[in-house]
Amino acid sequence: MKFFVDTAEVSEIEELAATGLLDGVTTNPSLIAKSGRPMLEVVREICGLVDGPVSAEVTATDAEAMLAEGRRLADLAPNVCVKLPLTWDGLKACRQLTRENIQVNVTLCFSAVQALLAAKAGATFISPFVGRLDDIGQDGMQLIADICEVYAQYPMLETEVLVASVRHPVHLLHAAKLGADVATLPPQVLKKLVEHPLTDKGLAGFLADWKKTGQSIL
Ligand code: E4P
Repeated sequence: MKFFVDTAEVSEIEELAATGLLDGVTTNPSLIAKSGRPMLEVVREICGLVDGPVSAEVTATDAEAMLAEGRRLADLAPNVCVKLPLTWDGLKACRQLTRENIQVNVTLCFSAVQALLAAKAGATFISPFVGRLDDIGQDGMQLIADICEVYAQYPMLETEVLVASVRHPVHLLHAAKLGADVATLPPQVLKKLVEHPLTDKGLAGFLADWKKTGQSIL
């Protein structure tokens, strides 16, 4: 399973990229706004920090303008993945950008039939938002199960399921059990994955016992 980080904060990406476990980055207009920086500059910088796909979202709503924005973003670096909303215009732009060998992440997916459309349009990634469905009392993880099941019926579809709007490590666990290809995690959720109180307690015990021996490995 690939791990992306969902942020436009360069310092956080640098810290996580240093682990060697980061496979990509996703941003959206809200995250860019939160960073307070010019979008093109920030996306170019992030693309230099990770080898994998860096999703950068268009803000136009009609297909022609989406294409122009998408091409502009794709020109920034070879690992830019153009993010398009799940609308008819977004799907039209997806089909065309894919033909131009530009990676596309179709975002704001809330149903399995939407995910099927995105796959037919040639999307590289489909981003179902689990947390936002949970927030309105629906079962976000059931959507991941449905999409994985539908895609499995058609092995010729190459679109990867990118679980988005992840709120906690249990979302990631369930997504991994379902075989989702990718999850994009906010930095604080990604950092939590390594934490367990018994790991900390066990390590403290080992180190205390080791100190008593007076030995050194080097
Ligand atoms: C994904 O690409 C989106 O940027 C993100 O996961 C949305 O998450 P949110 O619902 O926490 O805003």
